[in-house]
This record gives sequence, C-alpha cells and structure tokens, in this order.
Amino acid sequence: AEFFSYFWKSVCRSPLGMSRGQILDEDISASSQWSDSTAAKYGRLDCEEGDGAWCPEIAGEPENMNEFLQIDLRSLHFITLVGTQGRHAGGIGNEFAQTYKIKYSRDGSRWISWRNRQGKEVIEGNRNAYDIVLKDLEPPIIARFVRFMPVIDHSMNVCMRVELYGCEWLDGLVSYNSPLGQQMTLNGHHIYLNDSVYDGAMGYSMTEGLGQLTDGMCGLDDFTHSHVYNVWPGYDYVGWTNESFLSGYVEIMFEFDRTRNFTTMKVHCNNMFSRRVKTFQKVVCYFRSELDWEATPISFSPVMDDVNPSARFVTVSLYNHMASAIKCQYYFSDIWMMFSEITFQSDTAMYNTTLAPPKTGPPIRDDPTHKVDDSNTRILIGCLVAIIFILVVIIVIILWRQVWQKMLEKVSRRMLDDELTASLSIQSETFTYNNNNSPSSVSSEQESNSTYERIFPLGPDYQEPSRLVRKLPEFSQTSEDTGEFQNVQEGVPHYAEADIVNLQGVTGGNTYAVPALTMDLLSGKDVAVEEFPRKLLTFKEKLGEGQFGEVHLCEAEGMQDFMDEDFSFDVIENQTVLVAVKMLRADANKNARNDFLKEIKIMSRLKGPNIIRLLAVCMSSDPLCMITEYMENGDLNQFLSRHEPEGMIALLSNAPTVSYSNLHHMASQIASGMKYLSSLNFVHRDLATRNCLVGKNYTIKIADFGMSRNLYSGDYYRIQGRAVLPIRWMSWESILLGKFTTSSDVWAFGVTLWEMLTFCKEQPYSQLSDEQVIENTGEFFRDQRRQIYLPQPPMCPDPVYKLMLSCWNRNTKERPSFQEIHQTLLDCKP
Ligand SMILES: *[C@@H]1O[C@H](CO)[C@@H](O)[C@H](O)[C@H]1NC(C)=O
Ligand SMILES: *[C@@H]1O[C@H](CO)[C@@H](O)[C@H](O)[C@H]1NC(C)=O
Ligand SMILES: *[C@@H]1O[C@H](CO)[C@@H](O)[C@H](O)[C@H]1NC(C)=O
Repeated sequence: AEFFSYFWKSVCRSPLGMSRGQILDEDISASSQWSDSTAAKYGRLDCEEGDGAWCPEIAGEPENMNEFLQIDLRSLHFITLVGTQGRHAGGIGNEFAQTYKIKYSRDGSRWISWRNRQGKEVIEGNRNAYDIVLKDLEPPIIARFVRFMPVIDHSMNVCMRVELYGCEWLDGLVSYNSPLGQQMTLNGHHIYLNDSVYDGAMGYSMTEGLGQLTDGMCGLDDFTHSHVYNVWPGYDYVGWTNESFLSGYVEIMFEFDRTRNFTTMKVHCNNMFSRRVKTFQKVVCYFRSELDWEATPISFSPVMDDVNPSARFVTVSLYNHMASAIKCQYYFSDIWMMFSEITFQSDTAMYNTTLAPPKTGPPIRDDPTHKVDDSNTRILIGCLVAIIFILVVIIVIILWRQVWQKMLEKVSRRMLDDELTASLSIQSETFTYNNNNSPSSVSSEQESNSTYERIFPLGPDYQEPSRLVRKLPEFSQTSEDTGEFQNVQEGVPHYAEADIVNLQGVTGGNTYAVPALTMDLLSGKDVAVEEFPRKLLTFKEKLGEGQFGEVHLCEAEGMQDFMDEDFSFDVIENQTVLVAVKMLRADANKNARNDFLKEIKIMSRLKGPNIIRLLAVCMSSDPLCMITEYMENGDLNQFLSRHEPEGMIALLSNAPTVSYSNLHHMASQIASGMKYLSSLNFVHRDLATRNCLVGKNYTIKIADFGMSRNLYSGDYYRIQGRAVLPIRWMSWESILLGKFTTSSDVWAFGVTLWEMLTFCKEQPYSQLSDEQVIENTGEFFRDQRRQIYLPQPPMCPDPVYKLMLSCWNRNTKERPSFQEIHQTLLDCKP
C-alpha cells in the first residue's frame, strides 16, 4: 500500500505532447519571436517545422533574462523531466541555450521559479544544436503553465525546442497551508524539519504553495537520514513539536482545483518512537464544499504502533465527502509528529468528464510566402550537407564499431576481472539523446572510458554518454587494500570465475551461464530437440529484440506432437498453443551463431517443472529459431502489477487480487526451479519477476527473456555497448568483482521475493538512482553498517523478511542455499 508516491516517480515520465503535437500551437506562446518562422509554435522538441526552433528577439539589452517560451497544459500536471534542444535546421542552424531556468504557475498569475533540491535555479542546457538533453526535475513540478527561460548571453543567439514529461495530476491539490516546520535538537545536532521545497509564501506559516508533502518522495524510517545528497538532516520530513501547539494538534488546510468526491487521504508519517516521534493519534477533518465549512467533521484514530518503528502511510477514509477544500487537525501522540507525503484519492472518473474537451481542427499555420525563395535554397543546401555528413558519420561508425568494440570488450572484461581497478561510472543528472544524424554519436562514445552506461527508462534509445564521474575509494587504490581483497576472494567459490561459458548477447538475452566443466559433460550428448515446421507458427507480438535477434510471441499449431510424455502441458488436440520464438538474424556473426547453438544445447537439457522448456527448433533454414513454452498469464512482473493484495485498496479500486497464500505458492515454485538449476551448477544471472512466467492456477516457470524486452530497459545498466546488467538485482560481488555464482542467484532471489511482496509496484531501491545503487553496493563491500537494505514490505511476515535479509548476507557462504530457501518457505507456509 506504500507505493503511491514511488509510482508517480517511476511511471510518470511520458512526453506531454510538444513533439507529438498533442499540445496545440495555440497553447504555446512566447515573450517575443525573431521572425514568424521562429515563432513559439516551432519550439517543439525533435521537430523541424518553420526555421527549426523558437528563437526570441533579443532587443539590444545584455543579460536580458526575461525571454520565455510558455506552454499551457490546460490542466495541472506532475512534471518530472524536461528536454531541450537547439536549432539545427538540417545543418544551417547553430543556436541553442547553454543554460536556462524554469518558471511555472498553477493559476496563470502567480509564477514560481523552479529550484533544485540544493536551491540552484539555473539548469545546464545544450552543448550543441542537435542533441536532446533531458533533465530530471528534482523536485518535480506540479503546474499547468511552464516557462522555459534561456539565460541569454549576448555573445550568442539562442533558440530552443523543448518537451515536458510527466502525467496528469489527478490529486487536484493546488496548495496546502500549514504551520512552519520546526527544528529539533538531537544530541547537540540540529535536525531541520522545515518544508524544504515549499513554493508558496513562508511567513509565520506556509500559505498558497505545494512542497515536500507533494513531491512524490517518502522519507526514510530514520528521519535524520535522507536519500537526497548534500542536504541537511531532517530534509525529507516536515515536523512539529507539541510544545508549540497548546491545542494539541497541527492544522493543515488543503485547497483543490474544484469540488471533488473524496475517498481517502494517505499520510506518510515517521514512527521512530525511540526519538519520541509518532504517527498522529487522531485526525479531525472539516470539508468545505461551496463557501462554507460543513459543521460536522469526520474523525479517525489510527491504531498506534509501538512495535515497528518504520515510517508508514496512514490511510484515512473520507467517506465520499464532496469538497473543494479540506482542513485537517492532526493530534500529537508524542512530543514530535513528522510527515513526508500527503495524498488524496478522489473520484477521478468525474474528473475526466469535467476536463476541457479536446480541440479539433488543423493547427493554424502562418503564411510563409515572404520566406519561400530563401528557405528553399537553404533547405537544399542543408539537405546536401546533411546527407554528406550522414554518410561520413556512417562510415566512421562502421569502422569505429569494428575496431573499438573489440578493444572495449577486452578492456571491460579485464576491468571486471581485475577487482582492484574496477572503476564505476556514476549516473549524472544529464542524459543526452543522440540524433541519428549527429556527429556526437561518434565522439561521445569515443570519449567515454567508463565501464557502465545507463539505459534511460524512457526507452531503449536513451543512453547516457558515460562519464567516469567517480570511483569508489577502494577501487581506485592499488596497493594498500590488496590484503583485504584477497580475503574477499577466498569467500567466493572459484568455479565460475574464468572458465564460465558466456552466453550473453544473442538476442540481448542473458542466458544461463554454465561452468565450462558442466558444458563439457553436456556436449557429449546429442541435442535432443526436433525440427518444427516454420509455417505452423503465427506471429502475434514482438516480446523483445537484441543485437543479433528477436523474441516473438507466436501461436503454434500441432505442437503437442513435439512434447514429451513427461510434459504436463494440458493442450487439447489440434489446438494452437502460445510459444516464445527466439530467432537469430540471418546476418548474425559466427560467434553469435555458436552461442545460439550452445544455448539450444543447454536449454534442451533443462527439464524441471518450474523451468521453461525448449520445445523445438527451426534449424533447417535461416533465421535459426528456438521455440520455448510461453505461459498464458505473461510474466510475473506484469501479472502482479495488474493485481492488488487483498485488502483496502483492492476493495476501493475493484482491482483483481492475489491472496498471500497464492503469492507464497508462487515464491516456493521459483525457489524450487532455482533449486533444480543450482543442482546442475547452472547460474541464472538474471533472476527477477520479469523473468518468471505465470500459467494457470498460479504455476510459475523460470525463463530468461527479460533483458530483451524494451519494457524493462530501465531495470538494466549498460556496460560498454553490449552487456547490460540488472544492478538492482545483483549481489555486491557481481557488481564489483564480476562474479556470478549460485550465491549471487540467491541474492537475486531475495530481491525477487521482495518484488513479489510489493506486488511489483515499484522498482527495488526506487528512491535510489543507479549511481546511488552502486554506491550502496560499495557500502555492502565496506560493511560498516551504512548499507541500505530493501525495507520490509507491509504485507511481508517477519520470517520471510528474515529470509530475504539472509539472501543479502555480505558473506556468500552465509547465504542460504536454494534447498534451504525452499525448505524455509515450505515451513512458513500460511
Ligand atoms: C530549511 O532549513 C535549512 C537549514 O537551516 C535552510 O538551509 C533552508 O533554507 C530552509 N529551507 C526553507 C525553505 O526555509
Ligand atoms: C461519490 O462517489 C461515490 C462512489 O463513487 C458515489 O456513490 C456517491 O454518490 C458520490 N457522491 C456524490 C455526491 O456524487
Ligand atoms: C507533549 O507530549 C508529551 C508526551 O506525550 C507530554 O508528556 C507533554 O506534556 C506534552 N507537552 C505539551 C506542552 O503538551
């Protein structure tokens, strides 16, 4: 039940319609324009209409910072990301904004300057006229109007194309008014519990703004820590002490965009009772529907929890009251009360009907006649230049790929093997998206010398040109720490180190890795899979694609003839079955073909009830295919995301549910499948819910398509162009030392179990950036109790959480085996 705000941050990143045109021309305006062909409406990211961008008219004055491009989104939106680009115009433009600021407004009259969490207003923008630069907004913005304000430096003309990313703000909350947050003194240290990002007026109290309580970030259990860097202690919470409130309560008033039908309020409270902080003991809420406050409030007293000190959401039912404002009095139950997030759920169906109807009709274009001659020649020259450029770039890329890829692969492998010099690049705030025709796709990759690159969650095309920002201290030193590293190595089984048969990359899929020893045993026998007639496969959907191949979901006719007797696949005679078809592109190189054959050999030997089976192959002609089972309910990640735990939320939202005992049953099956794999010394390397398929009656089979699915690209971290790593599921030794063993699979099992118990509503460590995840890995290595573990999900029983924690034991030998995990799960069956 604790994922609402995490949800916003991870899912709410869709383009709001500058590039695709859902935002209409009339909703884009500007302070000025250089000419009609550089009017505001041309300021759309990735579009080349008009003269290729919005350019303001800069009238003589230097340092004129008041030019802006304004977008009206027509309703309140939660904006998490912005993208900017300059004017390229097929090669003739070279104007861009190196830095800019953002202002926003909810009502169109009060404008607020955006600042990042460290208080900085200026955002680093573009470096050239063609690359798209994306910036995460931390904190995110809740607004209807947004202005991009280039910081103009008179040495250069400025043009911009922009996009906003986010989603509609369904809470409808426009502002909250509250007493100022206070300051706590704890063992001589100050803890600042002010509202760190409030955007309204702050006098004696806070008025007319939104801030910390709506920024989509929940505080940690320990309020003195924060997942934001370089901020004061207490950053995540707004808190008050009962000494300043003789009435015994804190009153917060919430104003909404219109009258709404309210179902619930969720308040994220700290409950560190050892520090005299507790959730509120009672809340009394008043409702204002028209102009008057209703006389009868509702009142609710949550059950006080003196046992579990975790921060939590307290849900208050608002019983379908209609209101445009709500005033709540939260009563102290101890000396301190601290909130990090407050959300309201209201009747959204009604909301949609009151939205402005979509406008139709073609966008009005300015008459461009007076520019025709000029721009035709310019376009012609521009095209020619662009074509030549593209050709040169393509040639360079081809040459570069062949030479460098080989070198880089060697280098990166060496880096992973060589623990002492493993260096970790760290994600920065900037993401550059390279246009196909841009020369920087060459230079930026050449410049990068780091091990990891990040795949941006928006889509597989977004990559960060990696920069070696920082190294973990242990890994930049060479001499002193050697001793410690040797100790580490002794704790790690050796068989998987050097002689691992690496099967990565055929379809982008990370397949089972097998110690060479096992491989030899296997290669003695013949491959016992039959050829399947290709024409009996009917394409349904592409599940994913990789460098050398694709995975398709297909229907297969007559598959029952290809299934063994021991195969419990209840297919009715002559019915089609769903299968996954992994195919190798005809142009794949020899290594990829060999890997593909090895993968078939290995897959054909795996016959466990909880492992996806290889059914048949198509080897007689290209493209080579392997046909594996597919299960009707898709993968476990999507399956659980569609469901809710039994309880309050499910009741309110009518969502389908999965009971805890079925969840437990599924977890046991994964453990059993892994027990089977580990008994054969197979290392999976990518166990996660996205790689488990769900059949009838909650049956589970482990597969391996995850990495090739675009849907999950955000779950992986890219290492030098090819291999991609699921860092949030990986043990510390896999990330830092490149070691994959059954013990690291056990670690991933713990994370998978955690995903299941949160119903896959958030990514593991969703509050941490990739950079912070790797830093946390460093903490696991250092083991000075500063590492962060995934928290106990609300529905997770203590023994199961204990099991998870044991999977994340630093010492690989102390982690349980899959045999033990399976047994433990059976023992604590509900
Ligand atoms: C909150 O307190 C910190 C620490 O004193 C201070 O730096 C910051 O400016 C304050 N923030 C606001 C919005 O008042
Ligand atoms: C509010 O919503 C509930 C549930 O959707 C509905 O039963 C009720 O009639 C609504 N109240 C008003 C005043 O529209
Ligand atoms: C604040 O709360 C504590 C603990 O409940 C209580 O002992 C104390 O009297 C309260 N202080 C005031 C001023 O109400």
